[in-house]
Amino acid sequence: MTKRVFSGVQPTANLHLGNYLGAIKRFVELQNEPGTECIYCVVDLHAITVPQDPEKLRAQTREVAAAYLAAGVDPSRSIIFVQSNVSAHAELAWILNCVARMGWLERMTQFKDKAGKNAERSSVGLFDYPVLMAADILVYKATHVPVGEDQKQHLELARDIAARFNTDFNVEGFFPLPDPIIGGPAARVMNLQDGLKKMSKSDPADNSRINLTDSVDVLVRKIKKAKTDMLPMPSHVDELHDRPEVDNLIRIYAALSGLSKEAVVAEFAGAGFGVFKPKLADLAVESLGPVMTAMARYLDDPAQIDAILRTGAERANACAQPILAETKKAVGFWS
Ligand code: TYM
Repeated sequence: MTKRVFSGVQPTANLHLGNYLGAIKRFVELQNEPGTECIYCVVDLHAITVPQDPEKLRAQTREVAAAYLAAGVDPSRSIIFVQSNVSAHAELAWILNCVARMGWLERMTQFKDKAGKNAERSSVGLFDYPVLMAADILVYKATHVPVGEDQKQHLELARDIAARFNTDFNVEGFFPLPDPIIGGPAARVMNLQDGLKKMSKSDPADNSRINLTDSVDVLVRKIKKAKTDMLPMPSHVDELHDRPEVDNLIRIYAALSGLSKEAVVAEFAGAGFGVFKPKLADLAVESLGPVMTAMARYLDDPAQIDAILRTGAERANACAQPILAETKKAVGFWS
C-alpha cells in the first residue's frame, strides 16, 4: 500500500533547530522512501489562532517554504503548499468540529500551556486548533504524520476523531487512523539555556535556540554559550538523567551525525566540554550550514517560492476535493 505522508509547520517567527531535526529533516527522509507520497503544508490558518502581523505572516510563510526547499524537499516529488490556499481544510474542520467532543479538547495540554491563566481571553481558534490539525491530515486520508514529540497528543486526537467519524456515519475504514512518526534522538530538542524547557519559537531569549536564519558565526557562538555543568562528559547514558542540558547537546550531536546517543557518549566519555563543544559546532556548521545558505538563497528569490507554492496548491486541491466530496456525501449534505 502507498504510504501517504502529511505534515505541517506554522509560519510563526524563528524556525529553529528543533523544527528542523524533529520535523523538516525527517520530511526529506520520508520523501526519499520508495512508495511514499508526501504532502507538506505551511499552516497559516493555525498561525492566526494567536495575533499575527499580516506582512510578517506573509514573509514567514515564504520562510517556512524556503526551509522545506533548502532542507531538500523536492517540489517535483512532494507537494509543498499553503493551508489557506486549499479551502477543503477549513470545510472539513467544520464537519469534524461536530464530531469532536468538548471533553476531548479540554484535555489538550498544549492549549493549557499556551492559554495559561488567560483561557477565557484566548481565541476560540486556539482551543479548536487540534481539530483543524485533524482535518489537515484526514482531508488527504494521510496514513503517516512525522512530527516532534510535542504533537503526540494532537495526533492521538486526530485518530479518535477519524474513528468517531467512521462509526457515527457508518463508513467503516473511510478515514484511515493516521500513524504518528515520532522518535529518534531529536524528537524533543530542548532550550540551550534550560534543559528542562523545550526549544521554542516564542522564547524571548534568542540564545535559547538556534534559528535556521542565524549566520554560521551566531550558530557557533550559541553552541559555545550553551549551558553545561562542571562535570566531564558522561561515560554512560545512565549518567544523563539529571544532566538535561548535557543530554540535549548529546542528542543534538547524535541527530546531526546519524550516530546513536550511546555511540556519542562512548566517543566523548570523560572529555571536557572544551573538546566536545567545538566538535559539536563543527558538525553543526557542516550539516546545517548548507541548509541555512540555501534557505537564504531561496528567500532572495520570492517569485520562485511563490510559483512553487501555487503549483503545490493546485495539486493539493486536486487530492483534497474528492475526499471532501465523499465526506459531505457521508454526512448527508445535498449536492
Ligand atoms: P509547529 O509549527 O509548532 O512545529 C513544527 C514541527 O516542529 C516540531 N517541533 C519540535 N521538534 C523537536 N524539538 C522541538 N523543540 C520542537 N519544536 C517543534 C513540531 O512537533 C512539529 O512537528 N500543530 C503543528 C503544525 C501542524 C501539523 C498539522 C503537523 C498543523 N497541522 C498536521 C502535522 C500534521 C505545529 O504547531 O507545529
